[in-house]
Amino acid sequence: MNKILVTGGLGYIGSHTVVELLEQGKEVIAIDNLNNSDIRVLSRIEQICGRKPIFIEGDILDKDLLRKVFDEHKPEGIIHFAAYKAVGESTEKPVMYYENNLSGLINLIGVAEEFEVYNFVFSSSCTVYGDTSNSPIGEDEPLQLAISPYGTTKLLGEKILQDLVNFKPFKVVNLRYFNPVGAHPSALIGELPLGVPSNLVPYITQTAAGIREQLVIFGNDYNTPDGTNIRDFIHVVDLAKAHIKALDYAANNDFKLEYFNLGAGKGHSVLEVVKCFERVNDVKLNYRFGERRAGDVVQIWADASKADRVLDWRTELSLETMMESAWKWQQQLGD
Ligand code: NAD
Ligand code: UFG
Repeated sequence: MNKILVTGGLGYIGSHTVVELLEQGKEVIAIDNLNNSDIRVLSRIEQICGRKPIFIEGDILDKDLLRKVFDEHKPEGIIHFAAYKAVGESTEKPVMYYENNLSGLINLIGVAEEFEVYNFVFSSSCTVYGDTSNSPIGEDEPLQLAISPYGTTKLLGEKILQDLVNFKPFKVVNLRYFNPVGAHPSALIGELPLGVPSNLVPYITQTAAGIREQLVIFGNDYNTPDGTNIRDFIHVVDLAKAHIKALDYAANNDFKLEYFNLGAGKGHSVLEVVKCFERVNDVKLNYRFGERRAGDVVQIWADASKADRVLDWRTELSLETMMESAWKWQQQLGD
C-alpha cells in the first residue's frame, strides 16, 4: 500500500501520522476542513520531511468532493481521523457531533466502497470501555454505553464498521487510543487547543506559559495511591507510528476486523504528570486541588500486549519525553 488517504490530516494526531507516513516513503493525500487545525501545519510538515502531502481543504460531509478525491488520487488505504473530539462540547452540541462524526464516517465508507478501497483504519478511543475498574484493559473488555455524545459517536462508529465487514470486503483496524499527549521533537507540530483547554497537558503547558492562571487538579480523594485519577498517557509520535503498523497489517493479512488498544500499558496519576512536568522542565506550576470533574473515570490504563504481539508495535517514549516535548511546543506557539 503506497497511497494513503488521511482524513483530518492536519489535526493533532493526523499531522504526526502524515509525518511518519511521508518518512516511510508513502504518498499521502490529506483532507481537512481546518475546523480544528491550521493551514500552516502543511508547511511545518514539509519542514520536517522535506516534502508534503497532497492537501485538499474540504469537508468529508461533502460526498461529491470525496468522490473527486478518490477518483483523482486513487488511494489504496484510508486512515480516518476527521472528527470532533471535545467531550464537554459534545454534551452541549450532541447533534453536531453525531452529524460530523457519524455522517462523516458513513460518507467515507460509502465512497470507499464505490471506489473499492477496502483498507480502513479508524480512530477510536478508550472511552468505549466506559467507567470500568478492570485496568489493565484488554480489547475483550465489554464495551459500555458512552457517557457523552462524543463517546457515543466512537461506540457507534465501531459498531457500524463491525457490521460493515460482515457484508462488504473491508479490512478494518480499530485503534483505541488512550491519552495522547506531547508533540513532535522538532516542536514544529503539536496540539492546537482552541480556547480554554479541557485536557490536562495543554492546560498544564498554558498555565506554565502564563496563559492560564492556575491548573485545577480535579479531585484528590479518589481511591488511588495519591488520590488523583490515573490515565495511560501515550506520546503522539508513538501513537502515529502505530498507524503505519496497522496499515502494514491490513496489507499483509487476511482478516475483516481487528481491534487494538494503543497505550503505554501503564498508568500515571494526574499529580505524577504535574510533578514530572515541573521536574523535567524546571518550571514551577501554579496548581491546586479542586472538586472532582463529573464523568471522570477513576483509573484506566491499557493492556497493550496485543498491539505488541500482532502489530510489533510498542511505545518507546517516556512520560518525561512527553512533558518535555509538550513544553517545547507550547513555548514556540505563536512564533
Ligand atoms: P484534531 O481535532 O486535532 O484533528 C481532527 C482534524 O479533523 C482537525 O484538523 C479538523 O479540522 C478535521 N476535521 C474535523 N471534522 C472534519 C470534517 N467534517 N471534514 C474534514 N476535516 C474535519 O483531533 P485529534 O486529537 O487529532 O484526533 C483525531 C482523531 O482521534 C479523532 O477522531 C478523535 O476523536 C480521535 N481520538 C483522539 C483522542 C485525543 O485525546 N486526542 C483520543 C481518542 C481518540
Ligand atoms: N484534569 C485535571 N485538570 C484539568 C484537566 C484534566 O485534573 O484541567 C484531569 C482529569 O480529571 C483526568 C485527567 O486529568 O483525570 C485527564 O483528563 P483529560 O481531559 O486530559 O483526558 P480524559 O482522560 O478525560 O479524556 C480522554 C480523551 C477523550 C476520551 C476520554 C476517555 O481526551 O477523548 O479520554 O476516557 F473520550
